[in-house]
Amino acid sequence: MAFNIPRGTQDILPGESERWQYVENIARETCHAYHYQEIRTPIFEHTELFSRGVGESTDIVQKEMYTFADKKGRSLTLRPEGTASAVRSFVENKLFANPIQPTKLYYIGPMFRYERPQTGRYRQFYQFGIEAIGSSDPAIDAEVIALAMSVYRKAGLKNIKLVINSLGDKTSRAAHREALIRHFEPRIDEFCGDCQKRLQQNPLRILDCKKDRDHELLKSAPSILEYLNEESKAYFSKVQQYLTDIGISFEVDPNLVRGLDYYNHTAFEIMSDAEGFGAITTLAGGGRYDGLTEEIGGPKAPGIGFAMSIERLLAALDAENVKLAIDQGIDCYIVTLGEKAKDFSVSLLYKLREEGLSAEIDYECKKMKGQFKAADRLNAKYIAILGDDELSQNKINVKDAETGEQQEVKLDEFIRYMKAHTER
Ligand code: HAM
Repeated sequence: MAFNIPRGTQDILPGESERWQYVENIARETCHAYHYQEIRTPIFEHTELFSRGVGESTDIVQKEMYTFADKKGRSLTLRPEGTASAVRSFVENKLFANPIQPTKLYYIGPMFRYERPQTGRYRQFYQFGIEAIGSSDPAIDAEVIALAMSVYRKAGLKNIKLVINSLGDKTSRAAHREALIRHFEPRIDEFCGDCQKRLQQNPLRILDCKKDRDHELLKSAPSILEYLNEESKAYFSKVQQYLTDIGISFEVDPNLVRGLDYYNHTAFEIMSDAEGFGAITTLAGGGRYDGLTEEIGGPKAPGIGFAMSIERLLAALDAENVKLAIDQGIDCYIVTLGEKAKDFSVSLLYKLREEGLSAEIDYECKKMKGQFKAADRLNAKYIAILGDDELSQNKINVKDAETGEQQEVKLDEFIRYMKAHTER
């Protein structure tokens, strides 16, 4: 019986995995510069964390979670996103007691959602995300957005667009909620069953409905921006001012609502504008969640963050034809002729590697021609040729693959020679 990979998942094979590492390194370096530190939380959590944290009325909780009972009957869920786990850990490990706040965290790892797979949408996907928990200064909102934009810019993307909105504070949201109910209630029977439930539960979700997205009432729905109170308005304009000061351009879209319940104040998404990028253009999404720590039983600690999928970042790079500067080659390939030379090369290879050079040999005892071919395939910068004869004369031939120049080197000088020639 042959096995296939589960629907909506991918194998990242050698050749492709280097691209992942490349962009993940950019993410890590950028986090280092902005002083965000890595957090690693479990892949699964108690289901309740997500139903409370992400929100009962969201599509994620209603339809998309991989939930299972363990052998003791506890309900566990493969994490559909990283924020709830980061905030749970912040509360559980009392990171709020650290004298330096906000606590600035980042994560890179797989998330799981039972969605309909298509280009850019998977059931297992990798998110790089950050969370700054413990500050409600609008400057941190700008910092979080700047970090996301910086990663895209460093990776080489040019056609990206930042869209921001404010969902306001509790009072503004309550006023907007009432307005939405008044707007939709008279004609709610024209909407799908989900939206009929959403009307009382969380009418904001109607604006996000995939089935009813073309209904005329969506276009005329009251905008949150009209319901922001003075404080929320002031907060939002301060965020915009900081973004402008930093030099980040943005659009305000009053219809941007996001698909998770924990947001208030700033919400944002970053889209690809690249031609031919496909139907799904959102690369990253995030926002402020000032009530989340309390929702899951912790002290008040306002937070903001974002997450981006690595898959979509790589797809956007493809769409823009960006070639990543990945060095796929190895430093040295040892070609051997004869039994003794091969045996000797085993320890030579070890020494090269211990000095930090990437080196390879043929274990399959191919003919010399085959070994040279392999060196070429592996993009070796240098080819070291050792036969039994050379070995007895304590020397080795080193060929520069690019220039074709060949040099005879004393065997006991070889490691030093290679180190000097491959210094990065
Ligand atoms: P989200 O908008 O649900 O937010 O997801 C963030 C990003 O994850 C999306 O913009 C997209 O790049 C990626 N993503 C989501 N679902 C899929 C999928 N099925 N396949 C591929 N990529 C996907 C969150 O997850 C929030 N936790 C973000 C956040 C952090 N807000 C505050 N802090």
